[in-house]
Amino acid sequence: MQTVKKDALLKKYHLKPVLPKHVAIIMDGNGRWAQKRHLPRIAGHRAGAHSIRELVRLAGELGIEALTLYAFSTENWKRPPQEVRLLMQLLKQYLRNEVKELLQNNVRLQTIGNRKDLPGEIQKELEKSIQATAHCTGLTLVLALSYSGRADITNAVKQIAAQVKSGKLKVDSITEKMITSALSTSDLPEVDFLIRTSGEVRISNFLLWELAYSEIYITKTLWPDFKTKSFIEALKDFQGRQRRFGGVTNIIGSFTKWAR
Ligand code: FPP
Repeated sequence: MQTVKKDALLKKYHLKPVLPKHVAIIMDGNGRWAQKRHLPRIAGHRAGAHSIRELVRLAGELGIEALTLYAFSTENWKRPPQEVRLLMQLLKQYLRNEVKELLQNNVRLQTIGNRKDLPGEIQKELEKSIQATAHCTGLTLVLALSYSGRADITNAVKQIAAQVKSGKLKVDSITEKMITSALSTSDLPEVDFLIRTSGEVRISNFLLWELAYSEIYITKTLWPDFKTKSFIEALKDFQGRQRRFGGVTNIIGSFTKWAR
């Protein structure tokens, strides 16, 4: 059933069968979207939550395995307390309203970042939603909340250092794979595609280790305007890229062995 829907969508949008396995998005431009309409910033965040709903469904239907959204960085705590409070409220509302839709679309919810920094009621709501969707086998939706790429790497280094200290591991035996495994994203596929909206050309402390070989797509479109059409355009761009991983050229979609 899922494959039939996927095939129909590929045909409808003129996409090749090979899609990124793991898409990460820096959802930027909510404030500017609101400003342009003389609305409060929170109206932009609210509109941004609608984009999330649309793209989560589409990504799931296309058979993308994981979608990681940068919803709140550790730096975002520096925003005016009123905005932080409203963003947390919006997150709570999203979780309450969306679980049903996530279940319907077979989407499993996860988070990365320091959940303990979040208000208690949000932590509880998150735990409930994560548990409720734990059995889902379609898209994994990862919300990066109070997330910092550097903090995640630091944490991984501490775990490895503790093994060295206890004598279980020799310094010379440390591998890249061990670091990858110690990160909060260890159970997810490689991030092969990063999208950033609103035209800023920065990584902003997002998935620093994981983005090593990702294709990067930057669009001027503001996040609340980034809906199906924009996502399909981005995927088409991905499909036209040549992925070399430092080696020889591979045009995405040109080798059947890449197809899932
Ligand atoms: C950046 O826009 C966006 C954020 C800091 C938060 C992203 C949040 C949402 C999309 C909505 C809520 C999230 C969930 C999961 C329900 P900005 O405010 O920095 O925009 P600007 O650069 O134009 O000011």
